[in-house]
Amino acid sequence: MSGRLICVTGGAGYIGVNLVEQLAAQGERVRVIDRFFWGKMGLDEIPNVELISRDVRELQDGDLDGVDTVCHLAGLSNDPTADLDPNANWQMNTIATKELADAAIRMGVRRITFGSSGSIYDGAGSEEILDEDATVAPLGPYSESKFAAEKALLDVQDKIEVILLRQGTVGGYSRRMRYDLVVNTFLKDALLKKRLFLHEGGFMYRPLADVQDIATAHVVCLDAPSDKVGGKVLNVVQDNYQVKQLAEVIAEAVHPIVGDIELLHAPATGRIRDYRASNERMTAATGFTPQRTPVDSVNSVLEHIGEVDPQELTHPRHYNLRWMQILTEVHELQRSYERVF
Ligand SMILES: NC(=O)c1ccc[n+]([C@@H]2O[C@H](COP(=O)([O-])OP(=O)(O)OC[C@H]3O[C@@H](n4cnc5c(N)ncnc54)[C@H](O)[C@@H]3O)[C@@H](O)[C@H]2O)c1
Repeated sequence: MSGRLICVTGGAGYIGVNLVEQLAAQGERVRVIDRFFWGKMGLDEIPNVELISRDVRELQDGDLDGVDTVCHLAGLSNDPTADLDPNANWQMNTIATKELADAAIRMGVRRITFGSSGSIYDGAGSEEILDEDATVAPLGPYSESKFAAEKALLDVQDKIEVILLRQGTVGGYSRRMRYDLVVNTFLKDALLKKRLFLHEGGFMYRPLADVQDIATAHVVCLDAPSDKVGGKVLNVVQDNYQVKQLAEVIAEAVHPIVGDIELLHAPATGRIRDYRASNERMTAATGFTPQRTPVDSVNSVLEHIGEVDPQELTHPRHYNLRWMQILTEVHELQRSYERVF
């Protein structure tokens, strides 16, 4: 029990709520800075967790007063929402990250862990399992903004310890649930439609990790030795799965509940992401290797959702793009209402 103050930006998000729960459970004090796009997720009921409702683009130095470490997860978190408004994405994911680091330096924060993304390797191809020295190939505004944010953090590593976690695609249960990530999407489609679509035959590889393991990766980085993690880029991956292999694994996992699942071929939609990444450096630096498999992720969701409820599984709040579109529409309606009245 250390009782340090850890600031989690984006702490009410899919990964963030798991991280906040883990930190609080081990006796840390936690300050969440979040715009709460999806609400507060009951974080205000956890002892020793304080909430600041703030856009990271408008961070104030005082928000970091007394903070030991910042775990930085806030921002747009996938391709479709970044494509919706590339400028807002750049401001939130890159510029705000740079400004957060500057504020953290001014406020004497010891360390920042950053929720970067394996999607930086997007177009690298899957012939080799990539380590962190591999040439990156970001495709599009989201992964470009994450890579630029990494560079902004590395630029200040002589002033503050930065640890850049290139998180694989995440799956599994979170109290702020997302069904727009491949493992959870396959689970939802298997439960509701009893069929899974394999775009381009599902040849693409993805590095995956469970949401609890991703949160744990940030936790272990709080106390990992500076000479092992300071200024380091670390992939966080349980293993690499070909999409068609993943579909088979999930079909088998849900078979006792819904019976046979049909695997159907379909043309590609959007960017083709195909890469494999290695967790070896994370293991060497921290001793932590994600263990939870996609089947563990699927089972964690099944344990929590109980009865299969189509309305709940398809609710727009579980799909970042749909939710952002709704928030944008509401915002525009409010503005036109204010102009009229
Ligand atoms: N989920 C994944 O598979 C995955 C994989 C790799 C990297 N990442 C990265 O990890 C981080 C967290 O991902 P997630 O899946 O939890 O995303 P999420 O969308 O569930 O959560 C993001 C959180 O940040 C908040 N937020 C967004 N923009 C903000 C802003 N401008 N100011 C303040 N708060 C803001 C949201 O309200 C939300 O609570 C993101 O930076 C994402 O890019 C996620």
